[in-house]
Amino acid sequence: MEMVTRLAGRCRPLVVDVAEALRRRHMVRSFDGRPVATGVVDRLVTDALRAPTAGNTRGTAWIVLDGPRTATYWEHTTTPGWRAASRRWPGLSRAPVAALALASPGAYVARYAEHDKSPDPAAHVPAAPGVLSEGGPALGAGPGAWPVPYWFGDAAFSAMALLVGATSEGLGTCFLGNFRGEAPLLAAVGVPEGWRLFGTVLLGHPDGRDHPSPSLARRGPSAAERVHRGRW
Ligand SMILES: Cc1cc2nc3c(=O)[nH]c(=O)nc-3n(C[C@H](O)[C@H](O)[C@H](O)COP(=O)(O)O)c2cc1C
Repeated sequence: MEMVTRLAGRCRPLVVDVAEALRRRHMVRSFDGRPVATGVVDRLVTDALRAPTAGNTRGTAWIVLDGPRTATYWEHTTTPGWRAASRRWPGLSRAPVAALALASPGAYVARYAEHDKSPDPAAHVPAAPGVLSEGGPALGAGPGAWPVPYWFGDAAFSAMALLVGATSEGLGTCFLGNFRGEAPLLAAVGVPEGWRLFGTVLLGHPDGRDHPSPSLARRGPSAAERVHRGRW
């Protein structure tokens, strides 16, 4: 499917094959070690930040670790015992890029305490007629007040954009969750207080010797069972 998009008033036509990249995307866990040009990585990550953010908060960010700098990621998120035992470690460790997806809960709380989002009637500026207000309960009170933590949702939007964008360039990608070592990792790469690690996207050239996740063998509900028309 070819899609022509217009960029903010500049009417620059972009031809992208989104559907094909969505179909091809899968997690790659064995890389051949070849680097990815810095310009390509920069463009992919910058494009990934085109993902929407609630209230246009833009409270998401990426830290790109490439080449020998990826060692900092592995050092804090894995153990020597795991690295010695894992079949996947050699292939994963050859990923030339580890991009850390970050989110700032505080940025969202501060944004939703602003006058156009605040439920305080004295401060509230009603949305224009026909425009749905994105405000709700006192979301500016703190992260605990949020029924859905938008900061992680926004980081996920950006991560998906990076997975799909990199796939469209013929690169392999893998998303790794945040299970271990968040605080020392973020300290080691100089992230300011309050930012959270959502997860990490590995990027590189697949070597074709993948170790697919055992999760893929699970029989789960089909797409048809997960799409509900009208009602569940
Ligand atoms: C939030 C999230 C966390 C994940 N964490 C890991 C992880 O830590 N390690 C891993 O190998 N795969 C991880 N995955 C990948 C899933 O196992 C994978 O997406 C799923 O099995 C479907 O496979 P596919 O993406 O190749 O289609 C994660 C995926 C998501 C969405």
